[in-house]
Amino acid sequence: MTGAVAIRPCARADLEATRAIYNQAVRETTWSWRWAELTGPEWQDYARAHTAGRQTFLVAEVDGVVAGFANTGPFRAPDGYELTAEESVYVAPGCQGQGLGTALMEALVKRARSQGLHALIAGIDAGNVPSLALHAKLGFAEVGRLPQVAHKFDRWLDLVFLELLL
Ligand SMILES: CC(C)(COP(=O)(O)OP(=O)(O)OC[C@H]1O[C@@H](n2cnc3c(N)ncnc32)[C@H](O)[C@@H]1OP(=O)(O)O)[C@@H](O)C(=O)NCCC(=O)NCCS
Repeated sequence: MTGAVAIRPCARADLEATRAIYNQAVRETTWSWRWAELTGPEWQDYARAHTAGRQTFLVAEVDGVVAGFANTGPFRAPDGYELTAEESVYVAPGCQGQGLGTALMEALVKRARSQGLHALIAGIDAGNVPSLALHAKLGFAEVGRLPQVAHKFDRWLDLVFLELLL
């Protein structure tokens, strides 16, 4: 990565850029299991859920342009899950493989610790080799595999759960 990289909280002005990065993955990949792109208002709701309380929403900016994001959000609703969060990380296709995912995740883990979270969960498509490698590098351990729990593009998809205890 040759440009100047900044990892910072997602601002209102970053919503369209982050939505575009996410929707590209929705349209073209099985890395997200959504079938339909999120609208502007849906992404605003998503951002609210990923900034409330102990949650964090970060962006990576390269030379002033948003090139990726990472966030934490609630894992499951019951009270007992209060200190567990599910995380997501997305880097724009032209900027992958240059260290941005690592920088985003390292900052997210640090922030999750300072927010008092206890466990981070990643739910990853079993075929997503780069994401599995990124999470392994950060110390996430595989804790479960759920075969054929989703389908997209006429294929069954397996879910891998990884966990990092903070
Ligand atoms: C997964 C993703 C976030 C990784 O971000 P990135 O900026 O490309 O990753 P980095 O350059 O920081 O690389 C981190 C590690 O991932 C692994 N990795 C990255 N690209 C890889 C590839 N094409 N194949 C295999 N491993 C890869 C490597 O282990 C790498 O560590 P190393 O460089 O020290 O060997 C990014 O590829 C992405 O946004 N993919 C599409 C969306 C997605 O799958 N999001 C995750 C949903 S669970």
